[in-house]
Amino acid sequence: MVEQEEQEAFQKILSFILAKKDFNGEFYKAKYIQRRVMARMRVYGISHYNDYLKILFNDSEEIQHLFERLTIHVTEFFRDPSVYTAIETLVFNSLKPDGRNDHFKILSVGCSTGEEAYSIAILALKYFKFFKVHAIDIDPQSVQFALNGEYQLSATRNLTKIQIQNWFQEIGSGKIKVLPKLARRVEFQIQNIFSLNVFELNAYNLILCRNVLIYLTQDKQQWLFKALHESLKDNGVLVLGNTETMMGPARQLFICIDTSNRLYQKTIMIN
Ligand SMILES: C[S@@+](CC[C@H](N)C(=O)[O-])C[C@H]1O[C@@H](n2cnc3c(N)ncnc32)[C@H](O)[C@@H]1O
Repeated sequence: MVEQEEQEAFQKILSFILAKKDFNGEFYKAKYIQRRVMARMRVYGISHYNDYLKILFNDSEEIQHLFERLTIHVTEFFRDPSVYTAIETLVFNSLKPDGRNDHFKILSVGCSTGEEAYSIAILALKYFKFFKVHAIDIDPQSVQFALNGEYQLSATRNLTKIQIQNWFQEIGSGKIKVLPKLARRVEFQIQNIFSLNVFELNAYNLILCRNVLIYLTQDKQQWLFKALHESLKDNGVLVLGNTETMMGPARQLFICIDTSNRLYQKTIMIN
């Protein structure tokens, strides 16, 4: 009975997050969500979902704290540097568009505070005159941070001195700010990947969806692989995080072109 009550309380917590933050906890691995909710419960020294539900209802700021816990924002410039070398070799060199008007389009899914989107833009600037990076994340604060484009110099270990000189300006207090010539290549948007019409069909040459899938249920992973497949142009490439693997039916949709760096090329479906 107590267990059933607890389960009902947990479901109510999920409904509350969905209503307030458009974050559907059912789409994420249950263990992941439970661990995150429990981390908030520990702050109050409580161990029952029922008690936490009361806090959520009574303290209007708690939902924001919970949402921050549910969306993990760890990221960095050129995270896993060998992935970016692989993108240069296998994508930028071979998929280079022919005509000057052929715009190269890149999507960063779950872009967090923007480091991934700016990194891929820095790289693309070496290869393309016309390109655009579109970057989306469900978390408004992260997207605002990305738009602001200010980073601690100490958190840029994978950027070379030349890259910092070319694309950032020092603004004091140990911080650097993205220069407009880089910023205008990236368009950030607050978007939930599970909302309708988020993924433009046949639009992108390259999609980075790194360290987002690991948190999702198997069903939603498959759903996302299909959506990303449809959003890629023919021969377009999807890049996953270093600990993410493509499993199940999605393997029919892509060919793995670099196993260790998790690069997958769209397979064109012949009906
Ligand atoms: C761990 S970060 C990954 C950042 C970057 N892609 C990287 O690999 O360095 C995961 C990001 O996915 C975002 N995210 C989680 N669920 C999302 C959803 N439903 N729609 C859009 N973004 C989501 C989180 O807000 C978070 O910023």
